[in-house]
Amino acid sequence: MTRSIDDAVDILRASRRVVVTTGAGMSKESGIPTFRDAPNALWANYNPEDLATRAGFRRDPALVWRWYAERRAMIAGAKPHEGHLALARWEQRFDAFTILTQNIDGLHVAAGSKDVVELHGNIFRYKCFDHDHPVAEPLAGAGEPPRCACGSWVRPAVVWFGESLDADHLCAAYDALERCNVLLIVGTSGVVYPAAGFAATAKANGALVIEINPEATPASEIADVFIAGGAKSILPVLATKTVDPIAGP
Ligand code: OAD
Repeated sequence: MTRSIDDAVDILRASRRVVVTTGAGMSKESGIPTFRDAPNALWANYNPEDLATRAGFRRDPALVWRWYAERRAMIAGAKPHEGHLALARWEQRFDAFTILTQNIDGLHVAAGSKDVVELHGNIFRYKCFDHDHPVAEPLAGAGEPPRCACGSWVRPAVVWFGESLDADHLCAAYDALERCNVLLIVGTSGVVYPAAGFAATAKANGALVIEINPEATPASEIADVFIAGGAKSILPVLATKTVDPIAGP
Protein backbone atom coordinates (compact mmCIF):
# COMPACT_ATOMS: atom_id res chain seq x y z
CA MET A 1 0.00 0.00 0.00
CA THR A 2 1.23 3.49 -0.78
CA ARG A 3 0.12 6.91 0.38
CA SER A 4 1.00 8.82 -2.77
CA ILE A 5 -1.53 10.91 -4.68
CA ASP A 6 0.60 10.41 -7.79
CA ASP A 7 0.21 6.63 -7.51
CA ALA A 8 -3.56 7.13 -7.36
CA VAL A 9 -3.38 9.40 -10.41
CA ASP A 10 -1.41 6.77 -12.35
CA ILE A 11 -4.00 4.11 -11.50
CA LEU A 12 -6.91 6.36 -12.49
CA ARG A 13 -5.26 7.42 -15.76
CA ALA A 14 -4.89 3.77 -16.72
CA SER A 15 -8.53 2.96 -15.85
CA ARG A 16 -11.62 2.99 -18.07
CA ARG A 17 -14.21 1.87 -15.53
CA VAL A 18 -14.42 3.48 -12.10
CA VAL A 19 -16.64 2.90 -9.09
CA VAL A 20 -16.72 5.45 -6.29
CA THR A 21 -18.30 4.42 -3.02
CA THR A 22 -19.08 7.18 -0.54
CA GLY A 23 -20.21 7.47 3.06
CA ALA A 24 -21.08 10.19 5.51
CA GLY A 25 -17.53 11.62 5.47
CA MET A 26 -18.17 12.68 1.86
CA SER A 27 -20.82 15.15 3.05
CA LYS A 28 -19.20 16.22 6.30
CA GLU A 29 -17.64 19.30 4.72
CA SER A 30 -21.10 20.25 3.43
CA GLY A 31 -22.04 20.57 7.10
CA ILE A 32 -23.82 17.23 7.56
CA PRO A 33 -22.67 15.30 10.64
CA THR A 34 -21.36 11.75 10.22
CA PHE A 35 -22.63 8.80 12.24
CA ARG A 36 -19.53 7.70 14.08
CA ASP A 37 -16.70 10.22 14.12
CA ALA A 38 -16.47 12.86 16.81
CA PRO A 39 -17.46 15.56 17.48
CA ASN A 40 -21.20 15.65 16.74
CA ALA A 41 -21.45 12.03 15.54
CA LEU A 42 -25.14 11.23 15.20
CA TRP A 43 -24.86 7.82 16.85
CA ALA A 44 -23.00 9.32 19.81
CA ASN A 45 -26.02 11.45 20.61
CA TYR A 46 -28.91 9.27 19.44
CA ASN A 47 -29.77 5.59 19.64
CA PRO A 48 -29.99 3.90 16.22
CA GLU A 49 -32.30 1.24 17.67
CA ASP A 50 -34.88 3.95 18.45
CA LEU A 51 -34.50 5.98 15.27
CA ALA A 52 -33.39 3.75 12.43
CA THR A 53 -35.17 0.41 12.81
CA ARG A 54 -38.68 -0.85 12.08
CA ALA A 55 -39.11 -1.72 15.76
CA GLY A 56 -38.18 1.83 16.76
CA PHE A 57 -40.70 3.30 14.33
CA ARG A 58 -43.43 0.94 15.54
CA ARG A 59 -42.70 1.95 19.16
CA ASP A 60 -42.74 5.69 18.55
CA PRO A 61 -43.59 6.82 15.00
CA ALA A 62 -43.79 10.48 16.03
CA LEU A 63 -40.27 10.45 17.48
CA VAL A 64 -38.77 8.92 14.32
CA TRP A 65 -40.80 11.18 12.03
CA ARG A 66 -39.64 14.27 13.96
CA TRP A 67 -35.97 13.17 13.93
CA TYR A 68 -36.00 12.68 10.16
CA ALA A 69 -37.88 15.98 9.68
CA GLU A 70 -35.10 17.76 11.60
CA ARG A 71 -32.38 16.03 9.60
CA ARG A 72 -34.23 16.77 6.35
CA ALA A 73 -34.44 20.48 7.21
CA MET A 74 -30.72 20.54 7.96
CA ILE A 75 -29.79 18.63 4.80
CA ALA A 76 -32.07 20.87 2.69
CA GLY A 77 -29.78 23.77 3.58
CA ALA A 78 -26.60 21.90 2.59
CA LYS A 79 -24.89 22.26 -0.77
CA PRO A 80 -22.49 19.97 -2.64
CA HIS A 81 -18.87 20.96 -1.99
CA GLU A 82 -15.89 20.98 -4.37
CA GLY A 83 -15.40 17.24 -3.86
CA HIS A 84 -18.94 16.40 -5.02
CA LEU A 85 -18.50 18.78 -7.96
CA ALA A 86 -15.15 17.22 -8.89
CA LEU A 87 -16.76 13.76 -9.05
CA ALA A 88 -19.51 15.11 -11.32
CA ARG A 89 -17.00 16.71 -13.72
CA TRP A 90 -14.72 13.71 -13.64
CA GLU A 91 -17.19 11.11 -14.89
CA GLN A 92 -16.98 12.26 -18.53
CA ARG A 93 -13.39 11.07 -18.70
CA PHE A 94 -14.23 7.38 -18.20
CA ASP A 95 -16.26 4.72 -20.02
CA ALA A 96 -18.11 4.03 -16.78
CA PHE A 97 -18.14 6.06 -13.58
CA THR A 98 -20.64 4.77 -11.03
CA ILE A 99 -21.17 6.28 -7.59
CA LEU A 100 -22.46 3.86 -4.95
CA THR A 101 -23.40 6.07 -2.02
CA GLN A 102 -24.62 5.23 1.45
CA ASN A 103 -25.65 8.86 1.87
CA ILE A 104 -29.32 9.78 1.84
CA ASP A 105 -28.73 13.50 1.27
CA GLY A 106 -28.92 13.56 -2.54
CA LEU A 107 -25.78 15.72 -2.83
CA HIS A 108 -24.14 13.64 -5.59
CA VAL A 109 -27.18 14.11 -7.83
CA ALA A 110 -27.39 17.78 -6.83
CA ALA A 111 -23.75 18.15 -7.89
CA GLY A 112 -24.61 16.79 -11.35
CA SER A 113 -23.36 13.19 -11.16
CA LYS A 114 -25.43 11.01 -13.49
CA ASP A 115 -24.75 7.40 -12.52
CA VAL A 116 -25.56 7.39 -8.80
CA VAL A 117 -26.95 4.46 -6.80
CA GLU A 118 -28.42 5.64 -3.49
CA LEU A 119 -27.99 2.38 -1.63
CA HIS A 120 -29.60 3.62 1.61
CA GLY A 121 -32.38 5.58 -0.09
CA ASN A 122 -33.08 9.29 -0.01
CA ILE A 123 -34.38 11.39 2.85
CA PHE A 124 -36.47 13.52 0.48
CA ARG A 125 -38.54 10.54 -0.64
CA TYR A 126 -41.30 8.71 1.25
CA LYS A 127 -43.08 5.37 1.29
CA CYS A 128 -45.58 3.67 3.53
CA PHE A 129 -44.50 1.56 6.45
CA ASP A 130 -46.63 -1.52 5.80
CA HIS A 131 -46.48 -1.95 2.01
CA ASP A 132 -43.65 0.26 0.69
CA HIS A 133 -46.17 2.20 -1.45
CA PRO A 134 -44.35 5.23 -2.81
CA VAL A 135 -45.86 8.38 -1.35
CA ALA A 136 -45.58 11.86 -2.89
CA GLU A 137 -44.17 14.46 -0.53
CA PRO A 138 -46.56 14.48 2.43
CA LEU A 139 -47.46 17.51 4.49
CA ALA A 140 -44.93 17.40 7.29
CA GLY A 141 -47.10 17.94 10.33
CA ALA A 142 -45.75 18.02 13.83
CA GLY A 143 -46.55 14.97 15.92
CA GLU A 144 -47.56 11.75 14.24
CA PRO A 145 -46.50 10.98 10.65
CA PRO A 146 -49.09 11.30 7.89
CA ARG A 147 -50.95 8.27 6.52
CA CYS A 148 -50.66 6.60 3.13
CA ALA A 149 -53.89 6.14 1.10
CA CYS A 150 -53.82 2.52 2.33
CA GLY A 151 -53.97 3.68 5.94
CA SER A 152 -50.39 2.82 6.89
CA TRP A 153 -47.99 5.33 8.40
CA VAL A 154 -45.75 7.26 6.00
CA ARG A 155 -42.01 6.90 6.64
CA PRO A 156 -38.87 8.17 4.93
CA ALA A 157 -37.73 6.01 2.00
CA VAL A 158 -34.39 5.21 3.59
CA VAL A 159 -32.90 1.88 4.59
CA TRP A 160 -32.96 1.16 8.31
CA PHE A 161 -30.86 -1.35 10.24
CA GLY A 162 -32.12 -4.87 9.64
CA GLU A 163 -33.78 -3.97 6.32
CA SER A 164 -32.75 -5.26 2.91
CA LEU A 165 -31.41 -2.94 0.28
CA ASP A 166 -33.37 -2.50 -2.93
CA ALA A 167 -32.65 -5.50 -5.19
CA ASP A 168 -32.13 -3.35 -8.31
CA HIS A 169 -29.65 -1.20 -6.41
CA LEU A 170 -27.72 -4.27 -5.30
CA CYS A 171 -27.63 -5.67 -8.85
CA ALA A 172 -26.38 -2.35 -10.22
CA ALA A 173 -23.77 -2.11 -7.45
CA TYR A 174 -22.32 -5.60 -7.91
CA ASP A 175 -22.42 -5.33 -11.69
CA ALA A 176 -20.36 -2.14 -11.48
CA LEU A 177 -18.00 -3.60 -8.88
CA GLU A 178 -17.37 -6.74 -10.90
CA ARG A 179 -16.49 -4.77 -14.03
CA CYS A 180 -14.49 -1.84 -12.65
CA ASN A 181 -10.74 -1.29 -12.95
CA VAL A 182 -10.59 0.82 -9.83
CA LEU A 183 -12.70 1.35 -6.72
CA LEU A 184 -12.37 4.71 -4.99
CA ILE A 185 -13.63 4.64 -1.39
CA VAL A 186 -14.41 8.03 0.13
CA GLY A 187 -15.51 8.89 3.65
CA THR A 188 -16.93 5.67 4.99
CA SER A 189 -15.91 3.88 8.17
CA GLY A 190 -16.58 0.58 6.39
CA VAL A 191 -18.49 -1.09 9.18
CA VAL A 192 -21.98 -1.35 7.66
CA TYR A 193 -22.65 -4.02 5.03
CA PRO A 194 -22.98 -4.44 2.14
CA ALA A 195 -20.83 -1.36 1.40
CA ALA A 196 -18.26 -2.62 3.92
CA GLY A 197 -17.63 -5.56 1.58
CA PHE A 198 -17.19 -3.56 -1.63
CA ALA A 199 -13.40 -3.32 -1.37
CA ALA A 200 -13.06 -7.10 -1.09
CA THR A 201 -15.49 -7.66 -3.99
CA ALA A 202 -13.65 -5.24 -6.25
CA LYS A 203 -10.27 -6.75 -5.33
CA ALA A 204 -11.53 -10.28 -5.95
CA ASN A 205 -12.51 -9.13 -9.44
CA GLY A 206 -9.10 -7.69 -10.18
CA ALA A 207 -9.68 -3.99 -9.46
CA LEU A 208 -7.29 -1.72 -7.62
CA VAL A 209 -8.55 0.12 -4.54
CA ILE A 210 -7.89 3.73 -3.59
CA GLU A 211 -9.19 5.11 -0.28
CA ILE A 212 -9.60 8.73 0.80
CA ASN A 213 -10.27 9.27 4.51
CA PRO A 214 -8.61 11.27 7.29
CA GLU A 215 -8.47 8.02 9.32
CA ALA A 216 -7.54 4.45 8.44
CA THR A 217 -10.47 2.00 8.22
CA PRO A 218 -10.76 -1.78 7.77
CA ALA A 219 -10.62 -1.21 3.97
CA SER A 220 -7.23 0.49 4.32
CA GLU A 221 -5.70 -2.93 4.95
CA ILE A 222 -6.45 -4.03 1.40
CA ALA A 223 -6.29 -0.64 -0.33
CA ASP A 224 -3.52 -0.17 -2.90
CA VAL A 225 -3.40 3.55 -2.17
CA PHE A 226 -4.55 5.27 1.03
CA ILE A 227 -4.74 9.07 0.89
CA ALA A 228 -5.13 10.63 4.33
CA GLY A 229 -7.33 13.69 4.01
CA GLY A 230 -10.78 15.13 3.43
CA ALA A 231 -12.96 14.66 0.37
CA LYS A 232 -13.32 18.37 -0.28
CA SER A 233 -9.62 19.00 -0.73
CA ILE A 234 -8.35 15.66 -2.10
CA LEU A 235 -10.95 14.88 -4.79
CA PRO A 236 -10.47 18.09 -6.82
CA VAL A 237 -6.69 17.56 -6.82
CA LEU A 238 -7.06 13.94 -7.91
CA ALA A 239 -9.62 14.81 -10.58
CA THR A 240 -7.57 17.66 -12.00
CA LYS A 241 -4.36 15.64 -12.10
CA THR A 242 -6.12 12.71 -13.74
CA VAL A 243 -7.84 14.78 -16.41
CA ASP A 244 -4.84 16.95 -17.29
CA PRO A 245 -2.91 15.73 -20.32
CA ILE A 246 0.19 13.79 -19.35
CA ALA A 247 3.17 16.13 -19.44
CA GLY A 248 5.42 15.52 -22.43
CA PRO A 249 9.04 14.48 -22.08
P1 OAD B 1 -19.51 6.86 9.53
O1 OAD B 1 -19.94 7.99 10.40
O2 OAD B 1 -19.50 5.51 10.12
O3 OAD B 1 -18.05 7.14 8.97
C1 OAD B 1 -17.68 8.38 8.45
C2 OAD B 1 -16.27 8.24 7.89
O4 OAD B 1 -15.94 9.46 7.24
C3 OAD B 1 -15.17 7.98 8.93
O5 OAD B 1 -14.35 6.92 8.50
C4 OAD B 1 -14.40 9.29 8.97
O6 OAD B 1 -13.01 9.10 9.27
C5 OAD B 1 -14.59 9.78 7.55
N1 OAD B 1 -14.44 11.23 7.37
C6 OAD B 1 -14.61 12.22 8.27
N2 OAD B 1 -14.42 13.42 7.71
C7 OAD B 1 -14.14 13.20 6.40
C8 OAD B 1 -13.84 14.04 5.29
N3 OAD B 1 -13.83 15.37 5.41
N4 OAD B 1 -13.59 13.46 4.10
C9 OAD B 1 -13.61 12.11 3.96
N5 OAD B 1 -13.87 11.28 4.98
C10 OAD B 1 -14.15 11.80 6.18
O7 OAD B 1 -20.45 6.93 8.22
P2 OAD B 1 -20.74 5.80 7.14
O8 OAD B 1 -19.54 4.96 6.90
O9 OAD B 1 -21.37 6.48 5.98
O10 OAD B 1 -26.67 3.70 7.79
O11 OAD B 1 -21.85 4.93 7.86
C11 OAD B 1 -22.42 3.87 7.16
C12 OAD B 1 -23.87 3.74 7.52
O12 OAD B 1 -23.99 3.62 8.93
C13 OAD B 1 -24.73 4.94 7.20
O13 OAD B 1 -25.20 4.95 5.87
C14 OAD B 1 -25.86 4.81 8.16
C15 OAD B 1 -25.02 4.55 9.38
O14 OAD B 1 -25.61 4.09 10.48
C16 OAD B 1 -27.94 3.65 8.20
O15 OAD B 1 -28.49 4.57 8.77
C17 OAD B 1 -28.64 2.36 7.87
